[in-house]
Amino acid sequence: MHTGGITMFNLKIKVNGRLYEKEVEPRKLLVSFLREDLGLTGTHIGCDTTNCGACTVLMDGLPVKSCTVLAVQANNHNIMTVENSDETLSNLKESFLKNNGLQCGYCTPGMLMTSFYIVNSKIRDDDEIKRNLEGNLCRCTGYDGIIKSIREVSRNEP
Ligand code: FES
Ligand code: FES
Repeated sequence: MHTGGITMFNLKIKVNGRLYEKEVEPRKLLVSFLREDLGLTGTHIGCDTTNCGACTVLMDGLPVKSCTVLAVQANNHNIMTVENSDETLSNLKESFLKNNGLQCGYCTPGMLMTSFYIVNSKIRDDDEIKRNLEGNLCRCTGYDGIIKSIREVSRNEP
């Protein structure tokens, strides 16, 4: 379909287990699609330039910075966002609260999604955890509480 000279793309995407079919502009970023078209505003935009990681979501199980992925690149892919009700993700949210893994909360949605990837991928070594968190910046807490939160959830995972 053409709107105002722009050819719209018919996007099929699964987000948190639900299939959506929507027309999007080819230039639309995945983060904007999630927030504006699906109303999933849990995913934050911090820098918009691939630096901070606040916009991190999982695409087919791998962390991606959704400010750097076009919505059309996620066509026929599975996206998981911070709104997902997965048990491990819920445990991480509680652990972040308990272990001071957040302060202002701006980085937290992205931090949680990368943490979910770490726990789910059975990354247990501290240096490896830190390496995997390199793309997620927090200006408030320092990272001790975040790493402690991840460790605590990992301990209870099979
Ligand atoms: S908003 Fe995407 S990396 Fe900062
Ligand atoms: S809690 Fe404020 S930026 Fe991380």
